[in-house]
Amino acid sequence: MSSSFFFPTKLIVSEDAATDLLIELKDVSPDGVFVITDQGIMQAGIAEAMFQALKDAGFNPAVYSNVPGNPNIPDVKQAMEVISGRTITHVVAIGGGSVMDTAKAIGLLLGDKELDYEEVQWRRQLIKKSSLPVIGIPTTAGTGSEVTHVAVIGDSKGFKMGVLHPALFLKTAIIDGKLMRSLPPGLTATTGMDALVHCIEAFLSKKSNSTADIFALGAIRAIVQWLPAAFQDGNNLEARNAMAIAAAWAGIAFDQSSLGLVHALAGPLCGTYHLHHGLGVAVLLPATMDFNASAIPTNRWNLLREALMLPADAKPQDLGAWARKTLKSLNMPTRLSELGLTPEKIPTIAESAIKMAMIGLNIRSAGLEDCKQILEAGL
Ligand SMILES: [Fe+2]
Repeated sequence: MSSSFFFPTKLIVSEDAATDLLIELKDVSPDGVFVITDQGIMQAGIAEAMFQALKDAGFNPAVYSNVPGNPNIPDVKQAMEVISGRTITHVVAIGGGSVMDTAKAIGLLLGDKELDYEEVQWRRQLIKKSSLPVIGIPTTAGTGSEVTHVAVIGDSKGFKMGVLHPALFLKTAIIDGKLMRSLPPGLTATTGMDALVHCIEAFLSKKSNSTADIFALGAIRAIVQWLPAAFQDGNNLEARNAMAIAAAWAGIAFDQSSLGLVHALAGPLCGTYHLHHGLGVAVLLPATMDFNASAIPTNRWNLLREALMLPADAKPQDLGAWARKTLKSLNMPTRLSELGLTPEKIPTIAESAIKMAMIGLNIRSAGLEDCKQILEAGL
């Protein structure tokens, strides 16, 4: 079967994000930069070095620092008001997935003044022009949003809508693990597990291909090796850098190969209980892997087992137990009931999960009853 791999973003594995940002902004007008970030990043002082470097280089950037978790259209509109009447040529996103996705939407809107983003959410064919260049500096090692061509923004009622379009690829992603040192252990674990599930699901997707597999397997190996160290000691720069690039590799892998059943279930589960996305996918992993095990062919299993550093005699049926052990080692819950899931909510969540497109690419076909059974098994 034919396969393709398209990834136009310049990926910089950086020793110092501020220095590389200035190189990327060479010859840009001092008033042409729009920085988008959130309050957590401001309070953690992460954006400070970037602002100082920009100021020292003569830039006078416009700044929007109020991106919430799970941004919606009104948040995008509010950010656009900051630059009304100003000529912006470059967007800089400093933050996690929410900031990155907001910046992608803003880049599109600035690239085509005629666009209405709410209409784009229903008809991505309306995207006819290029986005303004967006430079992303991720501050968590998880979502992979800095390397994907999807933006997830809620509509005006808060309903999450993903827009998938090549125009949404960032111009540049600057990966600097130093910026992740202040991330507390709990968030290091949930974001890191999100990245791990991305690369496992990408590898187990029906749409996986040999090029994307290189990124998926490399990411799995690196996360298994370095997530425990980053969790134990947030100042371990080697671990932070390894996790930062691994999360980007995982993002590249799932952007090409798609996600699967864990993410299909996580959407409605996290929406119902207002859970952190990484926590939801992490706790869904064991029961979903128990379900997937029988469909993993030997050649795929051998590669996955090796990347997970499991012993030679391990079987796909051991994946669930491995996932539970991994969650325990990161002080995370292992049962969905610990996240608040109750049996009466299972049918509704399962019904929403089967409507997610990615479920069709899961290595084992799953229907409504399968989804209910997985949620019941994971309770
Ligand atoms: Fe995810």
